[in-house]
Amino acid sequence: MRKVTSKILFIIILNTILVQALTAQTKTINQKVDSVLSLMTLDEKIGQLNQYNDDWTATGPVTLDKDKRGQIQHGQVGSLLNCMGTERTRSWQKIAMQSRLKIPLLFGQDVIHGFKTTFPIPLAESCSWDLDAIELSARIAATEASASGIHWTFAPMVDICRDPRWGRVMEGAGEDTYLGSKIAYARVKGFQGDKLGELNSVMACAKHFAAYGAAVGGRDYNSVDMSDRQLWETYLPPFKATVDAHIATFMTSFNDLNGVPSTANKYLLTDILKNKWGFDGFVVSDWGAVGEMIEHGNVKNGYEAAQAAINAGCDMDMESRDYKNNLEQLVKDNKVSITRIDDAVRRILRKKFELGLFADPFRFCNADREQMELNNPNHPIAARNIARESIVLLKNQHHLLPLSKDTKTIAFIGPLVKAVKQNKGFWDVEVPGTDSSFIVSQWQGLENKVGNKTKLLYAKGCDIDGNNRNGFAEAVKVAKQADVVILSIGERRDLSGEAKSRSNINIPGVQEELLKALLATGKPVVVLINAGRPLVFDFTADNAPAILYTWWLGSEAGNAIADVLFGDYNPSAKLTMTFPLSVGQIPIYYNHFNTGRPAKNDNDRDYKSAYIDLSIYPRYEFGYGLSYTTFQYSKLQLNKKKIKSGEQLEASATITNTGNYDGEEIVQLYLHDLVSSIVRPVMELKDFRKIKLKAGESKTITFVIDKEKLSFFNQQLQWVAEPGEFELMIGASSRDIRLKDRFELVE
Ligand code: BGC
Repeated sequence: MRKVTSKILFIIILNTILVQALTAQTKTINQKVDSVLSLMTLDEKIGQLNQYNDDWTATGPVTLDKDKRGQIQHGQVGSLLNCMGTERTRSWQKIAMQSRLKIPLLFGQDVIHGFKTTFPIPLAESCSWDLDAIELSARIAATEASASGIHWTFAPMVDICRDPRWGRVMEGAGEDTYLGSKIAYARVKGFQGDKLGELNSVMACAKHFAAYGAAVGGRDYNSVDMSDRQLWETYLPPFKATVDAHIATFMTSFNDLNGVPSTANKYLLTDILKNKWGFDGFVVSDWGAVGEMIEHGNVKNGYEAAQAAINAGCDMDMESRDYKNNLEQLVKDNKVSITRIDDAVRRILRKKFELGLFADPFRFCNADREQMELNNPNHPIAARNIARESIVLLKNQHHLLPLSKDTKTIAFIGPLVKAVKQNKGFWDVEVPGTDSSFIVSQWQGLENKVGNKTKLLYAKGCDIDGNNRNGFAEAVKVAKQADVVILSIGERRDLSGEAKSRSNINIPGVQEELLKALLATGKPVVVLINAGRPLVFDFTADNAPAILYTWWLGSEAGNAIADVLFGDYNPSAKLTMTFPLSVGQIPIYYNHFNTGRPAKNDNDRDYKSAYIDLSIYPRYEFGYGLSYTTFQYSKLQLNKKKIKSGEQLEASATITNTGNYDGEEIVQLYLHDLVSSIVRPVMELKDFRKIKLKAGESKTITFVIDKEKLSFFNQQLQWVAEPGEFELMIGASSRDIRLKDRFELVE
């Protein structure tokens, strides 16, 4: 009897505290978090730090738990990933509501470039340089995902990368730190909206912290060894930008950095992220990365792995189970302090409160809203707009493009013409209950575009890989009947992405041979290259009269490509990664140092920093991309030639559309610090403008240069601007500099 009474009493007290904790309007979230924390057992606390995969999809080794349900009922799981759809998330959340403290689960998902509506892969999108459109695409992804029960996306991926062999370049924003930081900021804003807790916002996650994109040899998961200066200057700023955008979470990277796996890297997770940058969200490990430290060789077993990771500042363990299996003992053994555990739990609970999940754990599980948002007619419109802004025109001899809408016969040839899902690229989301009918294939896009006076012919020609040439004859026959041929070739979508490093980044199989056969017909051939990374395609680059790099454009790919082919959209995208001439040049990037023996050109090789058997120049440089029109740059004016540290300098230039089409130009500002205490890159992007100009129209744009743009990390890792001379360059790409001047920073 006494036992029962005390139990009832306990429940009453518990409920009173919970009610107070959850309803008091006046209480801050921190106070509410503390109230909940004060009720939790150590087991329940550890539960919050534990994230499991739902049973149906996985991006790592599958670890099925027979008692996942039981663990959730006992408050031993804080989050699930790969769990989506209002029905399924509701059913798991109901189980969490059976736990003693009813702490809601967080549902996380890789919403990398759209949810149902699929946007271009992030690398493609970055080529639009359109920050508003990029933010909008993340906003729409968040709207659909949150309507489908998701609270948290594992995006944006903000890893800078200079190596196209690495398959994960498709997930990022390319090689440049300045542009990458702007895009990182825009994506966080898009995902999280004005504030967490709004129904159409999801938590964003900056990944992979840090320097994952610098994996040796472009081999996924490989080690990274780099100077602090390069880390701070090139790889960390996009992460810092996400903190400035109030990002909710961070993910550790798989690699070791200078010998310390990121998941146990206190310097990164605590010293920099939490202490220096003041990040108040939580850090999740990458899939299994806590346990993988045993393979790395810096710990002996799961016990040591959990100790190293939690003490370094990794708050949540994704799928390794080492926190679940070892933290209690580690606390008992005084290897992990309860203060550290409490800090990690607090960080996670705070986000659950901010999302409004304590007030209503099912607030993202509204099936009507899910139906409405997954079928929102505005979403494909936005996807089409950003898709066409992502297509890069690499070559256009004799103005072959845009094609005339009066073309009588078009042959659309290639293994990707009628492909449907391929257009989504890697890291798409298989939304439950949807089929592929909403994805516009390239064939369908062309059919939608041309009128009934144009005849469309099709031949597959060959497969993406393999060496079967049996389809060539049919393709040539079809080409001969046409006025113009469009050839769609490239990678399969699963040739780029996680664990998709390639040592040979040519266009696979016999696809370029097919092009050769088609060119032999004498017909004009427009080549579409579909890929998740910069590829090497010498034959195509040298011989095809017109090339559009279409990447993977998402569910509106077909319509977007047709818009560009026929000039309903004038291409404006510019490359955000250098395209090498050959893998032998990798890593290759525009903002390199000059060296003590720079080669002036390809004839200047003797004892110079050059190759004896290869050009020093890339195939296509950073910032490159053509338009159907032409732009002239003129009248560079600097409002002063000397600036003091607190002052600003204005550089203006006039851009004129000198061609026959309305168009958009991405005007790029580069700076070069000519002499400084530490060697500086030959040029660095410091600003850009994307401007629309009607044919014949001129606009004057002004760049503002302040101390921030002139600063760098010196040898002591201080962010400084040193007095001296700077070169200012304004151009249409990193090699196509149209205007130049110099100015001086004085004390
Ligand atoms: C990837 C992460 C991803 C996670 C969850 C890992 O393999 O590296 O980027 O967020 O899986 O799917």
